Amino acid sequence: MKSPKLQKMHANPLTQMTATDEPLMTPWAVDIDLVTGAMAEPDRVLTRKTSDMRGYYRDEAALEQLIGQDDPIHYEVFEKHIPETYGHLLLCISKLYPGRVGDECFMTKGHYHTISGTAETYLCIRGTGYMMMKTADGVCHSEAMRRHRMVYVPPHWAHRSINTGDEPLISFCVYPADAGHNYGDIATEGFPRRVFIRQGKEVIE
Ligand code: F6R
Ligand code: ZN
Repeated sequence: MKSPKLQKMHANPLTQMTATDEPLMTPWAVDIDLVTGAMAEPDRVLTRKTSDMRGYYRDEAALEQLIGQDDPIHYEVFEKHIPETYGHLLLCISKLYPGRVGDECFMTKGHYHTISGTAETYLCIRGTGYMMMKTADGVCHSEAMRRHRMVYVPPHWAHRSINTGDEPLISFCVYPADAGHNYGDIATEGFPRRVFIRQGKEVIE
């Protein structure tokens, strides 16, 4: 646990204090397979199953049916341990499995960053889909995700990835380590658009 003084210094860039005030971190590296998206020896794996996604899909009955079948994993996030303090960068592999809830494509919960003025980059390694983004005043924007395409999520945009394909949608994400995740606001607001597959075709509505 850091002293309150140290936390305050790191929370405020105007103090010009940097992460070097912390114990010096030894440089390190991690192997990431850019074909499969596998991260070697992640320190943490966050797993969200279908039962963690109640309230997110339009067809609630279809979601309950899927939970009753085998409650499949929706997505996993593989991370290395990095202090969540100003100056560091968090990096992770986000792996969103293919699937449908009724005819709606599997997606992540989506969030704003708690420090809303922080951006994020998603480099798509595998799969196809969309990054759905929304501002607090209701502007919505989506970007296609596909292998070798990078999506830049600017500050103040809630963001959710959506898998429209038949294989995992895998991205390498980097964002400021003190950004934090605010799931509550976007869960209340909802994203204005959803993505469905109907008769083999994508429908965004
Ligand atoms: C981090 C970030 C991604 C997501 C991941 C899971 O800021 O945007 O690593 O956390 O794709 O999505 P959520 O967090 O919305 O459940
Ligand atoms: Zn994010």
